[in-house]
Amino acid sequence: MEVVAKEPNKEEVHPEREETTEALMNEKRLFRPLPELVVNANINPNDYENAVRKGKTDLEGFWEEAAMELDWFRKWDKVLDRSDAPFYKWFVNGKTNIAYNALDRHVKTHRKNKVAIIFESEAGQRTRMTYYDLYRASNMVANALTSLGVRKGDRVAIYLPNIPHIAICMLACAKLGAVHSVVYAGFSAIALRDRVNDAQAKVIITVDGFHRNGKVIKLKEVVDEAMLDCPTVETVIVAKWADIPVDMSDGRYVWYEDLMEGESKSFETVSMDAEDPLFILYTSGTTGKPKGILHTHGGYQVGINRTLKWVFDIKETDIFWCSADPGWITGHSYIVYGPLIAGTTTVMYEGHPLYPTPDRMWQIIAKYGVTILYTAPTTIRMLMRFGAHYPKKYDLSTLRLLGSVGEPINPEAWIWYYENVGNHNCPIMDTWWQTETGMFMITPVPSNVLKPGSAYKPFPGVQADVVDAKGNPVPTGKGGFLVIKEPWPAMARNIYKEPERYKEVYWSKMPGVYLTGDMATKDEDGYFWLQGRSDDVLNIAGHRIGTAEIESALVSHKWVAEAACIGVPDKIRGEIAKIFVILKEGVEEDEDILVNELKAHIRKKMGPLVIVKSISFQDKLPKTRSGKIMRRVLKAEELGLKVGDLSTLDN
Ligand code: PRX
Repeated sequence: MEVVAKEPNKEEVHPEREETTEALMNEKRLFRPLPELVVNANINPNDYENAVRKGKTDLEGFWEEAAMELDWFRKWDKVLDRSDAPFYKWFVNGKTNIAYNALDRHVKTHRKNKVAIIFESEAGQRTRMTYYDLYRASNMVANALTSLGVRKGDRVAIYLPNIPHIAICMLACAKLGAVHSVVYAGFSAIALRDRVNDAQAKVIITVDGFHRNGKVIKLKEVVDEAMLDCPTVETVIVAKWADIPVDMSDGRYVWYEDLMEGESKSFETVSMDAEDPLFILYTSGTTGKPKGILHTHGGYQVGINRTLKWVFDIKETDIFWCSADPGWITGHSYIVYGPLIAGTTTVMYEGHPLYPTPDRMWQIIAKYGVTILYTAPTTIRMLMRFGAHYPKKYDLSTLRLLGSVGEPINPEAWIWYYENVGNHNCPIMDTWWQTETGMFMITPVPSNVLKPGSAYKPFPGVQADVVDAKGNPVPTGKGGFLVIKEPWPAMARNIYKEPERYKEVYWSKMPGVYLTGDMATKDEDGYFWLQGRSDDVLNIAGHRIGTAEIESALVSHKWVAEAACIGVPDKIRGEIAKIFVILKEGVEEDEDILVNELKAHIRKKMGPLVIVKSISFQDKLPKTRSGKIMRRVLKAEELGLKVGDLSTLDN
């Protein structure tokens, strides 16, 4: 495809990238699939090759076949409408509801009494919910929301921890056609407020508190603070969970349990257009304002169902544990919707992976007989630090597949995971994807030959490539921009209320292709090696945080005149933040006081996700003549690397 690129932003090129890739690609070990996995796989090697071919020659036919696996109230007239690109439409005029596919259709089958969710609290109590339990619980919430005046298209903010309520409430919104906006329960009051206000949510659903690392997190108090400035919110539903006293005096607060009292357990799931919105999920970009990524009912369910069934080879008998939080896309697609659509059993754990001891995850796997574990490199590296004797204490023999997501997995962590958790029996599915892609994009299936550190190749029906700034494919072994060249059904449809921004960020720099924001290299076998972001977005322990967001949090402090933030490598978390600050005139506090105060300020503004390595105080910052901070100069100095082109540097 002939594409024209805008002049690349020199500040986007990270100086240490080449070194990192070389180190990664020196990894030469090959891991061949286990015969028994291949024989019984949902997709065998032959069918896989055919699927890759069909995805290229008949993209629409490929995805149409995938859509046929699900239930539709009315079949589509057309698989893909490209007429208003990049606002692609999938399964045009098809009528469906993702919650119908995740619940309603199962309760008409043998799955009615099958366990849908196994939940373990941090204190170690287990709860099992069958498909029928979950169906009835979400019907009740759908009825309650309806009686509160929530209608199709209205936004509901869900600010809940990793407990069954979150799945129930997401499904309830989907059932009645409301758009959920889940806000991760680690976000601060200010972050919650901004997201609630951007979405103009009518209702917030939360809990009194929850357990994390032996402490009670008082979530309702965070909501109280946000609610001082959330004018669109008419009702806040509070579930009792941690049993702590909370102030319910504001007329907008109601107890979840009171609302459910006497509520009907039946609800007629609303028929939605395939393109009707299902959820908004905010993610970081290069400006201070998070992007409300919008997904829809039709294509999203097709994409997550097909990827989960092939990549994790989901079977009726599986117990699938994705250890992410439902507050992120991973949890939306592969804790809640994907596993339930597939009719499998999904595991949810409320607490911290190291609580009370570093063997908690292995304990959970052994206790429930988990067959597939999907986690993040940062978690693996953290667990590695405590030694292999922890997993060795447990019978992990039920595991048959492992997965990784969120950042590149270094070969050392890959091998440790493979040997000590999978006991040499479980291939590792390293899945590359994003909030925007909705589903796995670059990923192996269990029958592929794996190279530790590579996410393999594009999933069938996904057309990805590595290109230079002009959009031309780069030679083998050279780094470039990762792009997706054809639409896919689970793609984001828009940035909520910001269509121009959607076009500008993803589709304008190289017209006709989706720009992922990641850098990658393809090797001689066509394997993709992901190298991190090409833009000013950090990946701290798998969490995406824009440097601009951190900087704007800092400059809102009365002592700070200017701030710059860069990512620096960290053994466990992949990357953490290093901050440079210019203080306002006359600020003369001791350095310790300054650092503690600014760290606390970031935490208050953004929540605990931003892990700061250090804050250093400067007289000036390197800038371009147009006044843009050159973060790559700071980064090169910090890491002792080549600074590169300085022609645009002003000072
Ligand atoms: O940089 C890539 C990294 O995470 C980014 C997407 O972040 P988010 O939207 O929060 O979604 C995370 C979970 C899907 C990507 O742009 N990333 C995600 N998975 C991988 C990865 N980097 C390398 N390898 C992966 N497997």
